[in-house]
Amino acid sequence: MEGKVALVTGAARGQGRSHAVRLAEEGADVIAVDRCGQIGTVPYPMATPDDLAETVRQVEAADRRIVAAQADVRDGAAMKQVVDDGVARLGRLDVVVANAGVTSYARAEDLSDEMWDDVVGTCLSGVFRTARAAIPHLKADGGAMVLISSTEGLTANQHMAHYTAAKHGVVGLTKVLALELAPHRIRVTSVHPTSVDTGMIHNEATYELFRPDLAPGEISRDDVAGPFQGLNALPVPWMDPVDTTEAVAWLVSDAARYVTGIQLPVDAGATTT
Ligand SMILES: NC(=O)c1ccc[n+]([C@@H]2O[C@H](COP(=O)([O-])OP(=O)(O)OC[C@H]3O[C@@H](n4cnc5c(N)ncnc54)[C@H](O)[C@@H]3O)[C@@H](O)[C@H]2O)c1
Repeated sequence: MEGKVALVTGAARGQGRSHAVRLAEEGADVIAVDRCGQIGTVPYPMATPDDLAETVRQVEAADRRIVAAQADVRDGAAMKQVVDDGVARLGRLDVVVANAGVTSYARAEDLSDEMWDDVVGTCLSGVFRTARAAIPHLKADGGAMVLISSTEGLTANQHMAHYTAAKHGVVGLTKVLALELAPHRIRVTSVHPTSVDTGMIHNEATYELFRPDLAPGEISRDDVAGPFQGLNALPVPWMDPVDTTEAVAWLVSDAARYVTGIQLPVDAGATTT
């Protein structure tokens, strides 16, 4: 990654921060984007400006430069501005990790238009708008894009029709981009993590979904470990952010120079049937 520049969305915390810091430790300068604010239908606290400041601190501790911006990946004009500005300041763009994502929970018949639009808008349209903003810059010198999907992009769970549709959509987007951009030596892949130990799963709304038998507000991490483990083949309830980062770091590296268009599960066997 020495001398390269990486764009990471959803970089304020969780897996996005892990990706940004690892790429910096491997030598990349970073353009970090995050909304840093709540979305109305998301039933758990999202990242804050302080979270993004901590990502900045950790990237700078790795002796790399970082341009951090608060922007919403659903806003195409904002994404273009942030990416253009980051490239102007850091000089180039080589790597994109389209990681920002949200979820909420309801059976399909109970999903409101707002719930659908917020999740599909972020997890699919936001990934597209991130890629679209980056493509002109990547064309200068080739590069690699990793679009973050989920096991829900390969299989399905109830209560998540919007998330599952969006994450499956990322697979189609990955394949089209891989074909369209191959002549420019730009590789495009998707990564499909199982549950990861971040704020997206460790919150009251998710706990209540997994343990409807327990009193709301009194459900602990230990209470949900069993049901989460039931999703995986390996005996582990959830992975650490770094487990996804290992796959991302490989996919964007020269070691994966002929890997494009693929879907890489990092899923403790969750999608193995
Ligand atoms: N945690 C899991 O179990 C899990 C499993 C599979 C896939 N994923 C996916 O991994 C990615 C990262 O999630 P995470 O686990 O780190 O969760 P997280 O909630 O800790 O981090 C998501 C980040 O994205 C940001 N974000 C959300 N919507 C945004 C928007 N519209 N514009 C800009 N920024 C926005 C949030 O502020 C937050 O910092 C997401 O795409 C998620 O769908 C998560």
